[in-house]
Amino acid sequence: MHRRLCRRLSFAIFVGILLTLYRSVQELPQVNSPHPLQRRVGVRGKAPLVTVLIWWYPFGKKSKIQDCDSSYNIQGCRLTTDRRLYPISQAVIIHHRDLGGNVSQLPAGPRPASQRWVWMNFESPTHSSGLEVLNGVFNWTMSYKRGSDIFIPYGYLYPKKRTEGKVALPSKSKLVAWVISNWNEDHARVQYYHRLNRYVDIDLYGRYHQPLQNDSIVLTISPYKFYLAFENSQHMDYITEKLWRNALMSSTVPIVLGPSRANYEQYIPADSFIHVDDFSTPKKLARHLMLLDKNARSYRKYFDWRRRYNVHLAKFWEEPYCKVCEAVKNARASDHKSISNLASWFQ
Ligand SMILES: *[C@@H]1O[C@H](CO)[C@@H](O)[C@H](O)[C@H]1NC(C)=O
Ligand SMILES: *[C@@H]1O[C@H](CO)[C@@H](O)[C@H](O)[C@H]1NC(C)=O
Ligand SMILES: *[C@@H]1O[C@H](CO)[C@@H](O)[C@H](O)[C@H]1NC(C)=O
Repeated sequence: MHRRLCRRLSFAIFVGILLTLYRSVQELPQVNSPHPLQRRVGVRGKAPLVTVLIWWYPFGKKSKIQDCDSSYNIQGCRLTTDRRLYPISQAVIIHHRDLGGNVSQLPAGPRPASQRWVWMNFESPTHSSGLEVLNGVFNWTMSYKRGSDIFIPYGYLYPKKRTEGKVALPSKSKLVAWVISNWNEDHARVQYYHRLNRYVDIDLYGRYHQPLQNDSIVLTISPYKFYLAFENSQHMDYITEKLWRNALMSSTVPIVLGPSRANYEQYIPADSFIHVDDFSTPKKLARHLMLLDKNARSYRKYFDWRRRYNVHLAKFWEEPYCKVCEAVKNARASDHKSISNLASWFQ
């Protein structure tokens, strides 16, 4: 009698456990369900949490895909270009320029319910055609523009561990430089260059001009006091490596032509750069450069920020890729969104 009760009880417990197990399996989000490909391509034997599919290598250039754990301390990411993983990818990154407005190049077949299509673009609106056909197609935007679902500026300043007393600058023997390869007489930057060059000598580097020393912008530009960080087109937030790497990493004072001074000041201190709009004419700007050339103290003031900040340069393309993985990890599967106004938002 006692023994039979025991047996019945343990049977009931056994069934209970089975039911709980079954339910917990059922509750798992669909994307986590085992898939033959998921088992085959594991990371260190463990199934990764997030699969991010890179639909194309940007501009068709094959590059090594980094590990987000060691580079960005983001764990559980699998970045892949293997399109067979489409059905189990939580995000698909599509580089705008390579799509070229041809929607038949988008993934075919049904989109898994919680998969995000990420529109990735780091070109300016002037150089981004074919946006209109993409309204309502993507779930997230990723670009240099603030308000992107995944915001990746070309660079930013971050605080140093401690404020430094003095900033060391490379020795400066030359005045103004510009590295320019895409020379176009219609660009505002080339027109401004012509006007400024009447009053101050500007050394040109790049295709059609002097070659860079040792193929290095930083090496070539460091002996200059000023650098023309002129953007190819003028748009809100479109502040590229021309400022961050060419000018700031080379320890020169940027002379910027791009969005407004107010927009630049959202990224770098007001006293760290010269904006072409600060002067009513290029002649007046040239005169200011001559004055600074003779006054070491005023010139050095442009570098005061370096006592407190370092420059971070966006790393293409692993930084955008890993940030997508991070965004997937931070999102809830139930947060649905689609970008219905891509064209008007971006332009
Ligand atoms: C669009 O893409 C499809 C598929 O890759 C291709 O067959 C077609 O030629 C493309 N159309 C244009 C206009 O480039
Ligand atoms: C530039 O390249 C040459 C030859 O490769 C090398 O000897 C030299 O050290 C390099 N200069 C600098 C400053 O790195
Ligand atoms: C992604 O966008 C598509 C198309 O607008 C939409 O049907 C789908 O629900 C969205 N998915 C998510 C996870 O936001």
